[in-house]
Amino acid sequence: MIGKLNHVAIAVPDLEAAVHTYRDVLGAKVSAPLAQVAHGVTVVFVELDNTKVELLHPLGEKSPIQGFLEKNPSGGIHHVCYEVADILAARDKLKAAGARVLGDGEPKIGAHDKPVLFLHPKDFNGTLVELEQA
Ligand code: CO
Repeated sequence: MIGKLNHVAIAVPDLEAAVHTYRDVLGAKVSAPLAQVAHGVTVVFVELDNTKVELLHPLGEKSPIQGFLEKNPSGGIHHVCYEVADILAARDKLKAAGARVLGDGEPKIGAHDKPVLFLHPKDFNGTLVELEQA
């Protein structure tokens, strides 16, 4: 059911320092910071040949990654995003298998303007999973 790894999202406490690490130390192609007000994050896209890494930094008062950074002060992997062809079919199959879909269970428009859902980390080996309709 799942297809490509669309991205790995890493919450970072210092966006400039993280950009320096990925661009100057690891030698990756790195985008300019993009404020995503509706998602409460500033994102930097690290473009790799086969996938992306997204560096997430809190934006605004109620950023969804603020609590994560409080628990993980040096940052950490926040979620992985897998592509699916049909997000509603994927959701229904996962729910039937007992997986918990976060929120109201309806896909939202995600950071790439495509429908996304998040799955409970406790059902996926402690990893928050994002599904994105490719
Ligand atoms: Co994501």
